[in-house]
Amino acid sequence: MLKQEAKQRIEKLKKEINHHRYLYHVLDKQEISEAALDSLKHELYKLEQQYPEFITPDSPTQRVGGQPLKEFKKVEHKIRMLSLQDVFDEQEIEDWQKRIKKLIPNEKLDYYAEVKMDGLAVSLIYKKGIFFQGSTRGNGIIGEDITQNLKVIEAIPLKLETENFFKEMKKNLPEEIEIRGEVFMSKKSFGELNKIQKKNNQPLFANPRNAAAGSLRQLDSKIVLSRKLDFYAYDLVADLSQKTHQESHQLAKLLGVKVNPESRYCRDLTDVAEYYRYIGKIRQNLPYLTDGIVVNVNNIFLFKKLGIVGKAPRAAVAFKYPAEQATTIVEDIIIQIGRTGALTPVAILEPVKVAGSTVSRATLHNEDEINRLGIKIGDSVIVQKAGDVIPDIVKVLLNLRTGKEKKFKFPSQCPVCGSAVIRKKGEVAHYCANKNCFAQNKENLYHFVSKSAFDIKHLGPKIIDKLLENGLIEDAADIFKLKRGDLEPIERFAEKSAVNLIEAINQSGKISLARLIYALGIRHIGEETAIDLADYFGSLEKIKNAGEEELKSVQSVGEVMAKSIYEWFRDKKNSRLLDKLSREIEIENIKVKKLKLKGKIFVLTGNLQSMTREEAKNKIRDLGGEISSSAGKNTDFAVAGAEPGSKYEKAERLGVKIIGEKEFLDILK
Ligand code: IVH
Repeated sequence: MLKQEAKQRIEKLKKEINHHRYLYHVLDKQEISEAALDSLKHELYKLEQQYPEFITPDSPTQRVGGQPLKEFKKVEHKIRMLSLQDVFDEQEIEDWQKRIKKLIPNEKLDYYAEVKMDGLAVSLIYKKGIFFQGSTRGNGIIGEDITQNLKVIEAIPLKLETENFFKEMKKNLPEEIEIRGEVFMSKKSFGELNKIQKKNNQPLFANPRNAAAGSLRQLDSKIVLSRKLDFYAYDLVADLSQKTHQESHQLAKLLGVKVNPESRYCRDLTDVAEYYRYIGKIRQNLPYLTDGIVVNVNNIFLFKKLGIVGKAPRAAVAFKYPAEQATTIVEDIIIQIGRTGALTPVAILEPVKVAGSTVSRATLHNEDEINRLGIKIGDSVIVQKAGDVIPDIVKVLLNLRTGKEKKFKFPSQCPVCGSAVIRKKGEVAHYCANKNCFAQNKENLYHFVSKSAFDIKHLGPKIIDKLLENGLIEDAADIFKLKRGDLEPIERFAEKSAVNLIEAINQSGKISLARLIYALGIRHIGEETAIDLADYFGSLEKIKNAGEEELKSVQSVGEVMAKSIYEWFRDKKNSRLLDKLSREIEIENIKVKKLKLKGKIFVLTGNLQSMTREEAKNKIRDLGGEISSSAGKNTDFAVAGAEPGSKYEKAERLGVKIIGEKEFLDILK
């Protein structure tokens, strides 16, 4: 390709890639697959490597790159970044309206309401339509320059859609414009991040906001990239002749900036209240956390006229949902025995309403947590409910102590079977040493019939308790032997429910291998690992006979899991259960996937465009391949991305086959 042709191709590729970014992030549309888009990015990258003189700061290849920073520079905001005043109910928002109406008595007010995202405020400066500088709010006057970190967030355009603007508005964009908005982490990315943190023995993030904040504070933008942050704009600090806040949002969208589609125009406070209730209802299902809505006076002239009190504009408020915390009293602390025999202390609380539901117990996790909180029976405490998770106690209100509180002593014997309680080295939990403990058995049965396991309808914990009490079942296999006549004598077991239950049991007798493995309740083996084990071995017999080393070659199985599986199958009681079960149920074995990279050893060096290092490793492992940290004689492939390191030279010296990203992607296909 001639230089001139390359230049044109680069321009076209940049435009095309940017167009698809705009479609995906701003308009929520997808015209080409991610793989096709990756391929375009890769072509652009290659061309730019060949002709570096054509690299521009708005090129999609410039999102990641550069050396880690030593520190963030300080940035002074041209216009102060304010915060918001909070209101908590309809009365308070009416009072707010009254206050502002007093200042502008002859004006009719309408509003623009938005979801209040739970993240961090950032400011983005664009010069001539190109992303120039991004910063944190800081103290509102001075923030930190986090341009490099913001560049990796695809929802933030590196170049504004200036042509769109020109077509629509028949004029050019001002030289400089500022966009403000919220960087946040979705609930899903937060869950994934904490999973990785846990796997790497790193501290967990308390919530998506902290995780987003911690990520933006990274000096190495490559780490930020792996954290999958998102962004929504909520304000345009530029005079583009817009008259209302709503128009600011429309203009931002026109310029290719992502705005929250849930925002809504409200004629009056009745509309606002309706919107508040609507978001309140759907917020559990929103992909990000929110604790309220933001209500803005829609008319920009009036917004400015209303001015500022303290650090907040008069013309906007945060209309918050009730705090998901409340205070109550600890009436007792009891011990629950889980399916693995772990003893979990639970606080019995004086019932209290938290975020719309009544809470009467909260987990205390383990003895260390009791000590950390310093909690005693009778204490006043703060309970918290976050989303669907089990309520937690966050703090003891020591000043409210009367002196009558009682210290809780962690039991040295299982409260159900009386056996000794042990605490294994390196673990925080205490366990009941008796494998036949009634409480464990019961919990195992609950797990066995649960949704992700055998999924037996009409057979919840209450019925299992009754079946156990009446001596109708002792273990999971007995469930499949139940007859209608067995159930009818049980108190309050109507004929119809007996028929339904027996029918449900009969229907669940056939099960996939993965579900069966999960249902067995082997310690440390969750749904995903059960699937990996089933895929790898194909039959229960093979898993049963596998040694620890072989078990470890399964994708998600590490040392601890391998040991746990191995020991589970060597336990006499478990063997008896399996024998009994095999007479009652039918297991759908599966064909073992052909692992095309089995036995192949890979070394990774440099940065790949289409995936992170971690993703590349997982893909190789998924196909049975192995990853080595340095090239050796046995290495089959060295995958070289951009800016490869010393591993590249070593691989070259040893004559290892070196492949580029495209070839690597072909191998994975
Ligand atoms: S407007 C005057 N709109 O909430 C400040 N803020 O409590 C302008 N926030 O610092 C804020 N979502 O970080 C606005 N849709 C939204 C928002 C939002 C989240 C944050 C923002 C701000 C804080 C104020």
